[in-house]
Amino acid sequence: AANRTFSIIKPDATRRNLTGAVTKMLEEAGLRVVASKRIQMTREQAEGFYAVHKERPFFGELVSFMISGPVVVQVLEGENAMQRNRDIMGATNPANAEPGTIRKELAESIEANTVHGSDSDENAEIEIAYFFKPEEIVG
Ligand code: CMP
Repeated sequence: AANRTFSIIKPDATRRNLTGAVTKMLEEAGLRVVASKRIQMTREQAEGFYAVHKERPFFGELVSFMISGPVVVQVLEGENAMQRNRDIMGATNPANAEPGTIRKELAESIEANTVHGSDSDENAEIEIAYFFKPEEIVG
């Protein structure tokens, strides 16, 4: 059955004017954008979003990067949306990502890796609710 996942087009992509290019790859992978907004995250918002990583050595840099410019937060719908999105994103480190994936084709580095995608259906639900009200999602 169709379900939903959460995606962020990161500041490295908005800076290079790749919002459309990323979205095209998501759509061609069978995902539908059912909610989308361009926002400037606050430090507090980014810290809260990445709270699971707060003990990691890269947490400070990750937060600084995510607030270094606008991002586009999206809700994606499709068959097995979470896994489908992870497949088209590719590995976290673009050096390890498969050809044809968003990160292999577009990402700059493990930090500036162009997209975030939820890593479980449970986290997708939490992450969608972090940025969207139910009425902002139109399937
Ligand atoms: P994301 O899917 O948004 O989830 C956490 C992010 O942390 C990840 O993508 C990367 O951008 C970033 N990240 C993960 N590992 C590292 C690392 N070793 N150094 C810097 N950033 C990292």
